[in-house]
Amino acid sequence: MTLDGATLDGARVLVTGASRGYGAAVARALAVRGAHVVLTATDTGHLARTARQCADEGAQCDLVTLDLASPESVDAAAAEVARVVPRLEGVVLNAGVLGPMGPLANADVDAIGHAIDVDFTGQVRLLQRIAPLIADHAGVVLVTSGAAGRPGYGAYALGKAGLEALGLMLREEWAARAIRVVAINPGPVRTDMRAEAHPEEDPATVPPPAERVAPVLAVLAGEDPGPRVQASEWGLA
Ligand SMILES: NC(=O)c1ccc[n+]([C@@H]2O[C@H](COP(=O)([O-])OP(=O)(O)OC[C@H]3O[C@@H](n4cnc5c(N)ncnc54)[C@H](OP(=O)(O)O)[C@@H]3O)[C@@H](O)[C@H]2O)c1
Repeated sequence: MTLDGATLDGARVLVTGASRGYGAAVARALAVRGAHVVLTATDTGHLARTARQCADEGAQCDLVTLDLASPESVDAAAAEVARVVPRLEGVVLNAGVLGPMGPLANADVDAIGHAIDVDFTGQVRLLQRIAPLIADHAGVVLVTSGAAGRPGYGAYALGKAGLEALGLMLREEWAARAIRVVAINPGPVRTDMRAEAHPEEDPATVPPPAERVAPVLAVLAGEDPGPRVQASEWGLA
């Protein structure tokens, strides 16, 4: 079931949140497999390290500034993506923020709004704007979390639940174009976000993100494992 060694030679893939963490690991793995990666973060300066690592693999690489909390930035980023690549064979919507944790009733409503903008509303807007670029038979990965809809996880839980619903809807709405829309939960991985959510945890006990990218590569390489995948269970069946 795994396609760990799959080639993605020449596939044009947009990766959001590529400056660090899981998105950076996905971008590097794509570069190793020959993809042309379009990397985004709020500031292209943040992307310099990932871009260098992708370039070291010989990958073609473009950098695009994107702040998912800003509709203007999303529109400008989509236009810039269209300028650098006429078509996308893959999209990995990975960027996200944790936002305020704890019971929703106690959370600051503006902070909830910001997290929802990044984790949900901005993602819908970005997908709408880049939809004309997405090729038939493309793979679209929505990076979700086991916290989707989970009490105590605040705006993050709401945003991820919305993202998963979006994935189910687009899977049907784009079925005629054979676009594989798959929500992938990386599970706990050693990143800034994980450390923010679980400050009590020893990061050494959490797997590095590169160990959880296989299902993303497989979906982009042509597999359709269904609407939702747990990366920690990938390849175990
Ligand atoms: N780490 C885990 O254990 C875990 C578990 C389950 C799911 N996930 C999911 O995996 C994905 C990546 O998480 P991570 O752990 O790698 O987090 P991370 O290390 O905090 O990285 C988050 C990425 O999102 C980008 N980002 C943040 N705010 C943004 C905004 N307003 N607009 C555009 N980009 C923005 C960041 O880039 P800049 O700040 O440089 O702009 C960064 O590249 C997230 O969707 C997360 O929910 C993570």
